[in-house]
Amino acid sequence: MTTIHTVSNSASVMKAGQQHVFSSLRMKPLNAPITSWVGKRIWLVGASSGIGAALAQGLLDAGASVVLSARRGDQLAIVAAPYANASVLPFDVTDTEAWPKALATVLERLGQLDLVVMGAARYDPTHSWQIDIDQAKKSFDLNVVSVYRGLSVIVPQLLGQGHGGISLIGSISGYTGLPRALIYGATKAALQNLCETLYFELAPKGLGVYLINPGFVQTPMTSANDFEMPGLMTPEAAASAIMRGFERGHFEIRFPKAFSLLLRVISMLPDRLRFALLHKTTKM
Ligand SMILES: NC(=O)c1ccc[n+]([C@@H]2O[C@H](COP(=O)([O-])OP(=O)(O)OC[C@H]3O[C@@H](n4cnc5c(N)ncnc54)[C@H](OP(=O)(O)O)[C@@H]3O)[C@@H](O)[C@H]2O)c1
Repeated sequence: MTTIHTVSNSASVMKAGQQHVFSSLRMKPLNAPITSWVGKRIWLVGASSGIGAALAQGLLDAGASVVLSARRGDQLAIVAAPYANASVLPFDVTDTEAWPKALATVLERLGQLDLVVMGAARYDPTHSWQIDIDQAKKSFDLNVVSVYRGLSVIVPQLLGQGHGGISLIGSISGYTGLPRALIYGATKAALQNLCETLYFELAPKGLGVYLINPGFVQTPMTSANDFEMPGLMTPEAAASAIMRGFERGHFEIRFPKAFSLLLRVISMLPDRLRFALLHKTTKM
């Protein structure tokens, strides 16, 4: 009797302990929530169109000071024009030498950095039988290597400051292989892995690390898509979802909710089931 009693007692203690661990895991956001945007010093790279431009507007409307970067200075100037708290800094992210100079200019203007968003990318829909090496190199150079170029100057700066956050714009197409995403999907899968390592290493040092995974958003990047895009969002809705994710302290900021969760779950299924479901849903 005593033994049974003791076993059942220790089982309930273990259960309570597990519940405590799980509830504390659930309660604590992975990054410190950004509770106010007023006066936040932000560098937004890839801000001349689409999601980046809409996010710049959302952040500026909310009171942040934003430096907007991309190659097209004229487009950046149009986005920044209505705002006293915006400035533009055009540069090409594939130019390694340009990064330290760009960072120095950003710091001259903002003093320090509270958040950097890296979203410059290209998308070349490609099937497995259409590989163009030059295109593959250009995509990896822009979508992935440029992120390393940026990180190589930004991470030391944030570590020196002792605060601040880095966010990479990935894509839900990085979750699993998808038709036509032969190159783009692989670049975004690389960013997912890269961002996880950044989180492991930098969160314990007090930095924020965020992986933004959008679904389909109506931007110049997707304008040539000739297939149905489930859950298609406006850039403004995407920008709101991104800001909400920062405000809640998420590590992964994914949207739209239902479609991105569906693809996430599919990506975790056993291969046989996953491939069958993807063939069925994409009709390819
Ligand atoms: N739209 C979607 O459905 C979707 C879905 C998932 C993820 N995403 C991701 O979201 C991010 C934004 O994409 P978007 O849809 O908003 O497309 P977009 O309007 O084409 O934006 C791409 C941005 O990257 C900049 N850029 C491209 N090459 C550059 C370079 N060499 N140097 C500096 N900046 C460069 C572009 O500006 P310049 O041309 O002026 O340089 C532009 O500001 C990308 O990372 C994309 O992969 C988009």
